[in-house]
Amino acid sequence: MEFLEFKHDQAAADLVARVYDTPPLAYVHSYGCQQNVNDGERIKGVLTDIGYGLCDKPDDADLILFNTCAVREHAEQRVFGNVGALKALKEKKPQLLIGLCGCMANQKHIVDKLRKSYPYVDLVFGVDGIDTLPQLLCEKLAGRRRRVLMEPAQRPVIVENIPIRRESEFRAWLPIMYGCDNFCTYCIVPYVRGREKSRKSADILAEFRGLVAAGYKEITLLGQNVNSYGKGLEEQIDFADLLRLLCTVPGDYHIRFMTSHPKDASHKLIDTIAAQPKLCKHIHLPVQSGSDRILAQMNRHYTAAQYLELVEYARKTIPGVTFSSDIIVGFPNETEEDFAATLRLIEQVGYMQLFTFIYSKREGTKAALLPDEVTRAEKTDRMRRLLETQDAIAMKLVAAQVGRTVRVLVEGHGREEGTLTGRLDNNLTVEFAGAPELIGAYAHVRLTGARATVLLGEVCGQPQPQ
Ligand code: 5AD
Ligand code: SF4
Repeated sequence: MEFLEFKHDQAAADLVARVYDTPPLAYVHSYGCQQNVNDGERIKGVLTDIGYGLCDKPDDADLILFNTCAVREHAEQRVFGNVGALKALKEKKPQLLIGLCGCMANQKHIVDKLRKSYPYVDLVFGVDGIDTLPQLLCEKLAGRRRRVLMEPAQRPVIVENIPIRRESEFRAWLPIMYGCDNFCTYCIVPYVRGREKSRKSADILAEFRGLVAAGYKEITLLGQNVNSYGKGLEEQIDFADLLRLLCTVPGDYHIRFMTSHPKDASHKLIDTIAAQPKLCKHIHLPVQSGSDRILAQMNRHYTAAQYLELVEYARKTIPGVTFSSDIIVGFPNETEEDFAATLRLIEQVGYMQLFTFIYSKREGTKAALLPDEVTRAEKTDRMRRLLETQDAIAMKLVAAQVGRTVRVLVEGHGREEGTLTGRLDNNLTVEFAGAPELIGAYAHVRLTGARATVLLGEVCGQPQPQ
């Protein structure tokens, strides 16, 4: 692994200034997970570093970039639909540049399809190509190439200090590692994001300190599997050690992280969450299925019983801890019995939130080769039953929160006029009346009721530092 520093590209900035009379505008849209959203923020940073401005509407843009997601087929179809819709805009405005990046751009069959069927796409670069964007743009703007299509590539490189334009002034994403080595059989991520690479703890700490100094309140550490942080680094450090290190930074903030693979979630990690007040008492711990047969076919390396043991240990160790999870419904040949095991498991755990997905076949993964007799109608019906079960679970858990007084981070405007939304430590949201000046600050809220799974409350006292 090589660690590099991002360098400002003055030649690219000069070229942009020569080509455009006024600073050109870029529209960058990110699909998919938080990792991708964070990549999008860095793409915006790199573009502004060479003189681009940013805009919110594709119609205003000189450069449109779709930062794509490949995790399910639906996401890919949306991107192709949106790229297709740009054809007319490009005809009206031939100097418009259109680019596609992110996970889809790391798949050969997608790049081939773009080449063949979307000739008006000017730039394609993969998840590891963000720092190379100025160079790619230069080649295009200088007319050295009619089109720039990069082959899918994963580089054994981490580039530090890529400029960033964050979307929020109080909540920040902070990647601690990239890629994934787990090869769950349904998942495209290891193929598009490549092998796991951990950032050095000193680099993470420096970025973290910068965020705290800039007033960020919520810092979410990101990785496909944060629990295997540290693998391959020269320093001896694991994820729990990293959390402890970050918590030594003084300031008024809290830390979240995602995603934790249950097979690597250690008791040490749980003890650390219990011991550190800066760490939210909420764990996103995707189980995917409650059936041991399916878990084995998914290559998850744990059983339902092992998962439940972990949850029990966390409950015992971290008072008030809450869990959320991802569930895949309709994995190839999932039987009614397998599905019943999933329903049982979600009842046993009692998740606050569940992110549910119907299995989507991904070309190139192992599961794509499995036969599947389960009909779409059955899968949809299972999804409906899963959601119904989860709604009832969440409603009970949410109702049990009423009466508490909690500290929340005020995130934005609520549904009703004059209301705000805040997020609790346990990841639930609450709506309450309050002035917009509170957005981005902590507030103390008394929980007075609930509307479905959203809590309702009222501010009590002044927002206070932790
Ligand atoms: N089909 C459906 N859901 C998937 N996920 C990952 N790959 C697939 C797929 N092929 C889900 C998993 C993962 C979440 C981010 O997306 O539940 O945890
Ligand atoms: Fe995909 Fe599994 Fe890696 Fe998560 S841990 S990104 S589900 S391969």
